[in-house]
Amino acid sequence: MAKYRVAVIPGDGIGPEVMSAAVNVLTEMENGSGKFDFEFKEYMAGDAYKAKTGTAMTEETFEAVKASDVCLFSAVGETAKEVIIPLRQRLNLYANIRPAKVYPNVPNVKGQMDMVMVRENTECLYKRIQDGGPDWGVALRVITRQASERIAKYAFELARREGRHKVTCVHKSNMMETTCGLFQDSCRKVAASYSDISYNEEIVDACAMKMVMYPERFDVVVTTNLFGDILSDLAAGVVGGLGMAPSANIGDNMAIFEPVHGSAPDIAGKGIANPIAQMLSAGMMLDWLGEKQAAKALEASIVEVLKEGRALTPDLRGTAKTKDVTKAVIAHLGDKTF
Ligand code: NAI
Ligand code: MG
Repeated sequence: MAKYRVAVIPGDGIGPEVMSAAVNVLTEMENGSGKFDFEFKEYMAGDAYKAKTGTAMTEETFEAVKASDVCLFSAVGETAKEVIIPLRQRLNLYANIRPAKVYPNVPNVKGQMDMVMVRENTECLYKRIQDGGPDWGVALRVITRQASERIAKYAFELARREGRHKVTCVHKSNMMETTCGLFQDSCRKVAASYSDISYNEEIVDACAMKMVMYPERFDVVVTTNLFGDILSDLAAGVVGGLGMAPSANIGDNMAIFEPVHGSAPDIAGKGIANPIAQMLSAGMMLDWLGEKQAAKALEASIVEVLKEGRALTPDLRGTAKTKDVTKAVIAHLGDKTF
């Protein structure tokens, strides 16, 4: 039986609420499968932990995450830059994968979208090389050919693997020749060796408009860190909100799976957070671990729950609680093998 050591970071706000939903579902799956076994270990990090101890994430937690097979993360609050950003950068999780897909019964903008955002995850303004005084601020945008080519290659490989047909490079090289120009040039070079996948480019501002108006035109999108951050929330909005948006941070031997959303303090503690983004992230984790059948079964169960339309949280215009969604997903897993 495959054994997976999973570091679990529930974080702040709705984090622990949606994490417990996802872990319940995964536990149900391990019991039902007989093929894999999870060893969950929970680590505290984030705003609440910092308020108590003075640090948002200890070095021991970082080392424990590094030593595990995989990490399931939820969301932290204001300490995101002290927790998830260093985890991504220090573990060299260079590919941030954010699918945006229309699901049944989820209120969305245009009825159609099935896109994967491939966001460079280690550099750009998120290097946080910055300085400032009371009346000025400056931040350094770092873009390298090595990281740009690596993420472009990841995007084309993902397109091939998932049977997708087009990669769109999003940039602003007309304004930022040295950074976006380099990124664009790197994408073009990589594109040249993938004649089976079509390639085009969009300038980021026009791209934002087109993603709302013509979401069906996008397939795989590859872009730099900050643009990817903004556009992936935009894409989440197009398909029904952050409660539906999962993500993966992938490196060569390690990965962290987390919903795109933050700690959502406005709804924390009410038991009404939508756990689907966290569950779909757990599904991406199963897929990355090689448990393809389990990943498909989990997504299929979520789709069935959405189709039934009974266990929908308020963000999906329903009245269900987080735990109702969990129960419904678990019930649908019952008739599947994985
Ligand atoms: P947010 O993603 O927490 O919330 C934005 C809006 O979406 C809110 O109205 C919230 O209620 C709603 N929402 C988010 N997830 C939902 C879910 N699962 N179900 C139903 N509704 C949901 O973003 P916001 O408000 O900008 O940030 C709140 C805190 O989260 C900040 O302190 C920010 O720094 C942190 N943050 C942390 C991230 C991380 O840990 N990776 C990522 C983004 C924000
Ligand atoms: Mg974001």
